[in-house]
Amino acid sequence: MTERHRQDDARHLPGQGDLRRLRVAIDGPAGAGKGTVARGLAERLGYLLVDTGAIYRAVALAVHRVGLAWDDSGAIGTLAEDLASGGRIALERGGPGAPPDSTDARAAHDARAAHTASDAGATDAGSADGPAHSSVGGSGMRVLLDGEDISSAIRAPEISLGASRVSAIPAVRKALLAMQRQAGAGGGVVLEGRDIGTVVFPDAEVKFYLTAPAEIRAKRRYDELVARGITVSFEATLSDVLRRDKADSERAVAPLRKADDAILVDSGHRSPQEIIDEMATLVEIRARGA
Ligand code: DC
Repeated sequence: MTERHRQDDARHLPGQGDLRRLRVAIDGPAGAGKGTVARGLAERLGYLLVDTGAIYRAVALAVHRVGLAWDDSGAIGTLAEDLASGGRIALERGGPGAPPDSTDARAAHDARAAHTASDAGATDAGSADGPAHSSVGGSGMRVLLDGEDISSAIRAPEISLGASRVSAIPAVRKALLAMQRQAGAGGGVVLEGRDIGTVVFPDAEVKFYLTAPAEIRAKRRYDELVARGITVSFEATLSDVLRRDKADSERAVAPLRKADDAILVDSGHRSPQEIIDEMATLVEIRARGA
């Protein structure tokens, strides 16, 4: 979707008046429910959705496929740069049983070159065509690597840990930064990740930090993996969550932390809908300029 299309959509949304289209950051640890909440919020607001974790996961899968060691920072950084600059990773709106919008990496690259921001790793969660539905991923989008749908492959436990490893490499973060900024540049976007409010868009108009106790987050991740037919134990899932929490929050570059001006939301004992309602109300108030 081009910037012009997005502006047209905004004009035609009933009751939107001259609401400003904001950049909404949702950061927090694994399993806090960011995917569900970010998708619901984007649908509700008619905003684009950008799952930045999926981009790091795509890099991890590429590393795994090429056979690089997780500690080979130099080669992984070079690969990430090639993936980002070559337009080899794309996030697209998913649909149950529907083929990806583009299965051709070259075409996806050309489209990005032509249309800039919203195509560079973004999915439209609530355009005039209707909300994004998907049988893939927590964020309801398809993730493509060289045109191949890798939405399920990037959710495997070893790729989760690999994503945590590659995301600690400064050259990887640098390579993916421009892609994320480009995706959010036009506003009217919900970006989900770890460092959106602190590094990617420190000037985002609305920032949320979503968290929950580790046991609750691990149970959610465990249920999600089981539902996907992946065999794991709860104990292994909990230890993965704790390991990733530690790695994500202790890394030297862009560690996971709440931005000073982010609103803290505990999803532990609240329904996603309740949280989405609260967030949407807040965004709408800010969008009116309050
Ligand atoms: O949200 P997720 O579990 O899909 O993210 C996968 C990994 O990517 C996670 O270990 C942290 C990393 N990540 C990051 O460092 N910065 C982001 N903005 C998003 C994800």
